[in-house]
Amino acid sequence: MKLMPAADDAAIDYAVQLLRQGRLVAFPTETVYGLGADAGNPDAVRRIFAAKGRPADHPLIVHIAGPEALTDWAASVPEAARQLAAHFWPGPLALVLNKKPCVPMEVTGGQNTVALRVPNHPVALRLLQAFGGGIAAPSANRFCRISPTQASHVAEELGDTVDLILDGGACQVGVESTIVDLSGDRPRLLRPGHITRLDIEPVLQTELLMPMPAESSQMRAPGMMAVHYAPTTLAMRCPPSELCAGIQALTTAGKRIGVLAYRHPQTESPLIHVIRMPRQADDYAQALYASLRELDRLQLDMILVEQPPETAAWQAINDRLRKAAIAFQM
Ligand code: TXA
Ligand code: MG
Repeated sequence: MKLMPAADDAAIDYAVQLLRQGRLVAFPTETVYGLGADAGNPDAVRRIFAAKGRPADHPLIVHIAGPEALTDWAASVPEAARQLAAHFWPGPLALVLNKKPCVPMEVTGGQNTVALRVPNHPVALRLLQAFGGGIAAPSANRFCRISPTQASHVAEELGDTVDLILDGGACQVGVESTIVDLSGDRPRLLRPGHITRLDIEPVLQTELLMPMPAESSQMRAPGMMAVHYAPTTLAMRCPPSELCAGIQALTTAGKRIGVLAYRHPQTESPLIHVIRMPRQADDYAQALYASLRELDRLQLDMILVEQPPETAAWQAINDRLRKAAIAFQM
C-alpha cells in the first residue's frame, strides 16, 4: 500500500494506471473515503469484495464524473433522476436506476439496478475525469466497520490490501451519501444522508417513500450481532435523561467508559473519557466516525452515546447511531 499526496498530478496518473490494471485505489469523497475499482472490470470489482470481506450480494455505488455519464450505466434516465442530478450533483446523493445489460453483475450484487453518484470532492472528480470510466467504490472500511473519513483510517482498515490511498484530508460531510431509489413507480429513500427528504421533496414535487419496513426494522434490531458501521467496543445509545445515572452506575462498577456527549454531562472521573460533540447536526456528522474511532482505540469497557435530537436534520446521524450502538440497558 502506498499513501500519496492527492493534489499532485503524478498521484492521479498513477491511480489511473492502477485502475486500468484492475487494481484498488482508495480515494477521498465529500462523504467518506471510497475503495475504488474499474466498474467495468468484473475481476477488479471482485477484489473490492475480497479486500473488505464483504458478501458478494451487497451492491456497490458507481461513481461517475458527471450526469452525462448516466446513460453509460442506466437503461433509461427518468425525469426525476435528471432533476435530482441537476440539483444535487456533484454531491452526497446516490440514485438507483435500472441498469444497462453491460453493467457487470459483480457491481450490482446480481440486481437489475445500479446506484450512481457524482461525488463533490476535487480529488475524486479529477480521478474520475482522468480515468474516464465509472469507479465502483464502497466505503473503504472492512465489512461492518466504521467508514473512514481520513486517509489514515483507510490505512488502519485495509493495510496492504489496497494498492494506493489518495490523501484528500478529512471528509467534509462525514456520513455516507443519501440514496434514492428511482427504479420503481415512486421514489423511495433507501439511506438517509446529508441531503434530507426536506431537500429532495421540493425538487421532485412529490413525497418520498421511506425505507422498506423490513429494512428499517433490521436496522433497529438490538443485539450485538445486528450492528453495522460499529466500533469494536460495545456501544450503547443513551437518552440524555438517563446518561448521568448510566455513567454513575458503570463507573461505580469500575468500568472504564467513553462518552460521546451531546449535552455535556457534569460527571467527571478518571474512569470516563468524554468527547464533546458539536451541537449542530452537520458538524456532528463530520466528527462522528473519527470520534467513534478515537474512543474505540482506547479499548474501554463500553461507549455511551448520548442521543441527539430526532429532527429531520439529525436523521442520517440517528440512522448511523442505531447501526453503531445498541439501545441502552443496565
Ligand atoms: O457516500 C457514499 O455513498 C460512499 C462514498 C464512497 O461514495 N459509499 C458508500 O458505499 O457508502 P457502500 O458500499 O458502503 O454503501 C452503498 C450502499 C449499500 O447500502 C448498498 O446496499 C446500496 O448502496 N446500493 C448500492 N447499489 C444499490 C442498488 N442497485 N440498489 C439498492 N441499493 C444499492
Ligand atoms: Mg459502507
